[in-house]
Amino acid sequence: MLLTFAVSGYRSLRHLVLPLSQVNVVTGANGSGKSSLYRAIRMLADVAQGRAIGSLAREGGLPSTLWAGPEAFSREMKAGSAPIQGASRRNNVVGLKLGFADEDFGYAIDLGMPVAVPRSYFNLDPEIKAEAVWAGPVLRGSNVLAARTGPAVKVLEESGSRSHVITNLQGFDSMMTHVVDPRRTPEVLTLRERMRRWRFYDHLRTDQDSPARRAQLGTRTPVLASDGADLAAALQTLREIGDEPALDAAIEDAFPGSRVEVAIQDGLFDVTMHQHGLLRPLRSAELSDGTLRYLLLVTALLTPRPPPLLVLNEPETSLHPSLLQPLARLIVKAAEQSQIIVVSHAGALVDELASKDDSTVFELKKELGETIVDVPEPPAWSWPPR
Ligand SMILES: Nc1ncnc2c1ncn2[C@@H]1O[C@H](COP(=O)(O)OP(=O)(O)O)[C@@H](O)[C@H]1O
Ligand SMILES: [Mg+2]
Repeated sequence: MLLTFAVSGYRSLRHLVLPLSQVNVVTGANGSGKSSLYRAIRMLADVAQGRAIGSLAREGGLPSTLWAGPEAFSREMKAGSAPIQGASRRNNVVGLKLGFADEDFGYAIDLGMPVAVPRSYFNLDPEIKAEAVWAGPVLRGSNVLAARTGPAVKVLEESGSRSHVITNLQGFDSMMTHVVDPRRTPEVLTLRERMRRWRFYDHLRTDQDSPARRAQLGTRTPVLASDGADLAAALQTLREIGDEPALDAAIEDAFPGSRVEVAIQDGLFDVTMHQHGLLRPLRSAELSDGTLRYLLLVTALLTPRPPPLLVLNEPETSLHPSLLQPLARLIVKAAEQSQIIVVSHAGALVDELASKDDSTVFELKKELGETIVDVPEPPAWSWPPR
């Protein structure tokens, strides 16, 4: 389980250190930074897949994601008696930092502006300046297991000494994907594999052209694709090797008297739904957006192969308000197997999840353009030095 998530210098998230519970709900007004927080967690997961630089580039690159406000606000700026303006020079280096700590280890990464290479087409690619893996909740000098500064990676040897394992790591390569000696750095490998199992759902498609609305070839699918494309195969896999009673209960909870089945025609799988009062079942192409989305969420949340961390971005989109309570119950059920982070602005969903013992609600607010979260006891945190 993740105990702490930390981000610094990512859009309006100038500095957040959040203590995580089993169920975490991120909420707040439009523009408060919810999607940014979701993307920051996702980017951390991308590091372990070797995709962080690419996903940053797709968002407009480092210049777009760095804090667009001044480095500091003067008292006059805060009071509104002076215009918001930056100092003539910055005191601190700019960087985007992401990190987390679980019950065993912590990891953090610091990305910054690249050192320009003559004639390179890639001088806008951000560069990894520093990384660290440590034992325990907070990075200190003594508990570092592997640390990267620039192109050099040092690891803690069994003898207790620290030695270089790499001296020429490229600025676009993370030590999480390149320091992979199972004997010398087993913790890096363990942590990387944990991060690779984090699962994200933020664009389950229900539009008329979405693949979930078409009959498809099916093979055993314990994990629904991130866009929901393989719904029929995943649903049938859940029936055969997963918690079938929970599946039927979740459908009954949301659509009393209805039944969901996978039909095979000409070798292709399609989802069908028998609804109360209808003479024939409806095919996936005929289901309403909300109904299809709920089926996608049921399939994602009751997966027979639960991830250690499941992150959902605005799952309420296009759901009828009457489905929010059943969705909350599904999330609570999934939380028996996985730690959950839900980004949502659906009051009924937030309230229902907030009432659980092991849940935390993070209410994001904006102050002078910066995202602020009231955390009674922020966990201790420190970033790896450059
Ligand atoms: N580089 C940046 N620096 C500061 N603020 C930014 C930057 N980029 C975007 N923002 C702000 O972040 C907010 C967008 O946050 P977002 O996570 O999409 O909000 P939400 O999902 O809560 O509606 C906007 O208010 C925008 O002004
Ligand atoms: Mg948003």
